[in-house]
Amino acid sequence: MAKAHKSNGTAGFPKDLKFGNGRSVLVRLIEPDDEAKILAFARSLPHDDLLFLRTDITEPEVVEDWLNNVHKGNTATVIAEAGGQIVGYGSVHSDQARWTRRVGEIRVQVTPSYRGSGLGRHLAAEIFKIGQSRGLKKMAAMMTPDQAGARAAFDKLGFQVEALLQDWVIDRDGHPRDLLIMSYDLEGLNDRISV
Ligand SMILES: CC(C)(COP(=O)(O)OP(=O)(O)OC[C@H]1O[C@@H](n2cnc3c(N)ncnc32)[C@H](O)[C@@H]1OP(=O)(O)O)[C@@H](O)C(=O)NCCC(=O)NCCS
Repeated sequence: MAKAHKSNGTAGFPKDLKFGNGRSVLVRLIEPDDEAKILAFARSLPHDDLLFLRTDITEPEVVEDWLNNVHKGNTATVIAEAGGQIVGYGSVHSDQARWTRRVGEIRVQVTPSYRGSGLGRHLAAEIFKIGQSRGLKKMAAMMTPDQAGARAAFDKLGFQVEALLQDWVIDRDGHPRDLLIMSYDLEGLNDRISV
């Protein structure tokens, strides 16, 4: 990716892009009134995806919390929309009040019918740019080792395994799972991620 942008990385939105078989996707910044669309997106995800959601975004109060964090500047989110419906998002979460403030946690989610066409990579790249502009030095992605697709995708984006923590999380069905943390050092950016 190119050098850090002087803006906060949010210039240039919305963007009309083509993915897969030429399907148009509007990539834009999240809006304060996106709650209903996010809930509809989350509730449309297959059980396997819901199982591993980092926070339960099928619940209105969790989405309200997310939107509040965007308002406070702790979270930045880029939405992918097609036909007026959300088909994916990329988000970076950090907290300036914490000692982990150099690290941003990246979350990317794409609806199954839009996977494998580069949308996840694009959303991750947009979020990288925003995270870098906000001064973050490292990006981390958290998943369970069962999320093979996510691991492969982040692997291809240049992320490396940082840690494997045993029985660290509980899935939506109440089962303990290992937590795999993959990370990418923004100070050593290379050409693998570009928007
Ligand atoms: C992870 C996820 C966002 C990837 O989205 P996507 O739109 O399918 O990703 P892309 O099409 O941009 O693929 C990115 C790269 O990963 C590879 N990849 C994606 N899914 C893969 C899979 N299941 N197996 C192997 N490789 C895969 C792609 O081939 C691509 O590499 P390439 O450009 O060299 O061909 C999507 O699978 C998803 O939403 N998963 C569920 C949520 C999740 O687990 N999120 C991660 C936790 S933060």
